[in-house]
Amino acid sequence: MLKTAVLVSGGGTNLQALIDAAGRGEMPHVQLSLVVSNRAGAFALERAEKAGIRAEYLEKEGFEERLNALLDGEGVGLIVLAGFLRILSEGFTRRWAGRIINIHPSLIPSFCGAGYYGLRVHEAALARGVKVTGATVHFVNEIPDGGEIIAQRAVEVRPGDTPEALQRRVMEQAEWKILPEAAEAVAERLEGESDR
Ligand code: GAR
Repeated sequence: MLKTAVLVSGGGTNLQALIDAAGRGEMPHVQLSLVVSNRAGAFALERAEKAGIRAEYLEKEGFEERLNALLDGEGVGLIVLAGFLRILSEGFTRRWAGRIINIHPSLIPSFCGAGYYGLRVHEAALARGVKVTGATVHFVNEIPDGGEIIAQRAVEVRPGDTPEALQRRVMEQAEWKILPEAAEAVAERLEGESDR
């Protein structure tokens, strides 16, 4: 199993989807070892503690240095950004190239990049009048939402949708499914590579 860290900033429903998938035995190559938040009091930290996973908050000052120390200390081999709303530096993404993935709540390349996060993504999709949206899991590189796409799932936009209603449907029908699937697929491949 590959030791995996999940980076969060908020409620942590995607983290919960990972915890639940692991509990159902659906991620045999993923060991959830560490959850790190850049926001104190994020509910995601409570979810981690409840599941028996080490949970840490790191402040802005020296964030990436401290994060690297935590990741190295735990022997982490895969990082999952699950509602993590801070942009990581080029140096950090280079160091973890091929070992860091992110879930984004749209079909990239629509409604992505700097400024598109959380509810704003769904507000933009509704304002543009798209009839289909969805979610994407991708590798993280130095360009926000610019790394190689791993998985996508489409979700219907319905007449009268509010940003909140659309966000919930995208989570339920796409994010909570493709994130555990992609994490497992990437971990399996990375473990296979290290065996060779
Ligand atoms: C999720 O919809 C996630 O895709 C999005 O933030 C939400 C976090 O919810 N991430 C981004 O917008 C990243 N650009 P959660 O904390 O309940 O998982």
